[in-house]
Amino acid sequence: MFERPRRNRQNPSIRALVRENGVLVSDLVWPLFVIEGQNVSEEVPSLPGVCRLSIDNLVKECEEAHVLGIQAVLLFPCLSEELKNKKATESANDKGLLQRAIAAIKEKIPTLTVMSDVAMDPYSTDGHDGLVSHGEILNDETLPILAAMAVSQARAGVDIVAPSDMMDGRVAYLRQELDDAGFERVGILSYTAKYASSFYGPFRDVLDSAPKAGDKKTYQMDTANIREALRETRLDIEEGADIVMVKPGLPYLDVLKTVSEMVDIPVAVYNVSGEYAMLKLMAEKGLGNYDDLMMEVLLSFKRAGADMIFTYHAKDAARLLRGSCV
Ligand code: PBG
Repeated sequence: MFERPRRNRQNPSIRALVRENGVLVSDLVWPLFVIEGQNVSEEVPSLPGVCRLSIDNLVKECEEAHVLGIQAVLLFPCLSEELKNKKATESANDKGLLQRAIAAIKEKIPTLTVMSDVAMDPYSTDGHDGLVSHGEILNDETLPILAAMAVSQARAGVDIVAPSDMMDGRVAYLRQELDDAGFERVGILSYTAKYASSFYGPFRDVLDSAPKAGDKKTYQMDTANIREALRETRLDIEEGADIVMVKPGLPYLDVLKTVSEMVDIPVAVYNVSGEYAMLKLMAEKGLGNYDDLMMEVLLSFKRAGADMIFTYHAKDAARLLRGSCV
């Protein structure tokens, strides 16, 4: 036999030499949930191993993660119902929970990149990412609310804002408002191809942010489409996005691959809550080894062209990767 592909697989050192892709700890971004209080680490039943953290514990977790080599975190606030309203006004409160969390992390760990979500749902009584009127999600009326939120986060010291709302024109709007407020250095990571996915369920449990009525299909993308993702990508880049994102990850690897081949800016993928829960539940039921499942999934994103991976596995993966070259 002339061709024997198995020759390149015969032992670990040859396999390591011919390995085409790898996950670096610095590729991982850790999404974290902050809640009011002191010394609170409240495990979320639908996301085993993920906690809602008070600011003091959040800072500790960030320090540990940074020591392990993680370079960035993404923050979401868990607000009590009294602070929510239709216009999400709490989102622009400079003394709000998220703003205090950003400032606390940047003060203690200035070298850790802090990203923050920009969308109305954690602050809205309607549980939608935009302003709701008579059952409709208003686009242009939502933009100033998102901009006020982003500028407030920038004032708190955030490095990158991450609009996850899928309103049209929001990247250009945020860029302009951030620049006008003197925050040219604050980057925009746009959730560019964000699909109306069923894999967000556990996340909505964490924030208690599921839509009160209707679904998100008039703004998040139809799960059947890929050409539409290219259009969203073109628009976000024209509007000034610094990084584009595909979300969720596993069911959209084709989209990730296509987007990563088309752009000349960094591409992120969000390995969302339902994808994380799947592996945890498999491992819990004895259907697979958690570490192996996790690394196989993370590698799939690198193969598909991701530069960075937003994942609840970040700290587990960082521990595993330390000292190895998986
Ligand atoms: C909302 C937002 C969602 C996620 C990130 N930002 C949920 C949604 O769109 O309903 C999902 C993340 C996850 O499932 O891990 N702006």
